[in-house]
Amino acid sequence: RVEAAFPYCESLSGASRPVFGEGPADARLVFIGEAPGAREDETGRPFVGAAGEKLDQIIGAMGLDREQVFITNILKARPRENRTPTIDEIEACVPYLQEQLRLIRPEVIITLGGPATKFILQTSEGITRLRGRWGAWEDGDLRIPVMPTFHPAYLLRNYTTETRKQMWSDVQKVVELLGLAKK
Ligand code: URA
Repeated sequence: RVEAAFPYCESLSGASRPVFGEGPADARLVFIGEAPGAREDETGRPFVGAAGEKLDQIIGAMGLDREQVFITNILKARPRENRTPTIDEIEACVPYLQEQLRLIRPEVIITLGGPATKFILQTSEGITRLRGRWGAWEDGDLRIPVMPTFHPAYLLRNYTTETRKQMWSDVQKVVELLGLAKK
């Protein structure tokens, strides 16, 4: 139940259910999005709506299957009116995300869009400046490379040659780091 998962966050209590994320515990790659949307709130699964379809295509183009990667969000429940996460919502949810990353210890993280990137890299810079440049998530002795890119929903709203080329070039850096066969 949502109230049990986030006892200190009243504003997430309107969600139907938590959406913690899914994927193998030994995934080499973790995608971090912003927050569950309507479809995710209905199903309890991350990235199953239109943005999820786009994400599936991106994963496929990288030479991977969705089942091979771990997909999650900064927020583990849908915020009211789908608005941008607030600080207290993020604070209520990050212990889950931190624990997920500590357990999975992926080789690389892709952050999708501004809110995920800003939180993971602890910066206030905008996504257009951050995307395509390696950062890192540090936690104790863990140091995981982070590649920020656009959110698939942004790509769908701005479906131009330029944005598609930029996103492809960002994920290509991860393909190279993981030594995946290019398709
Ligand atoms: N958008 C996100 O950021 N996450 C989801 O799970 C779905 C849509």
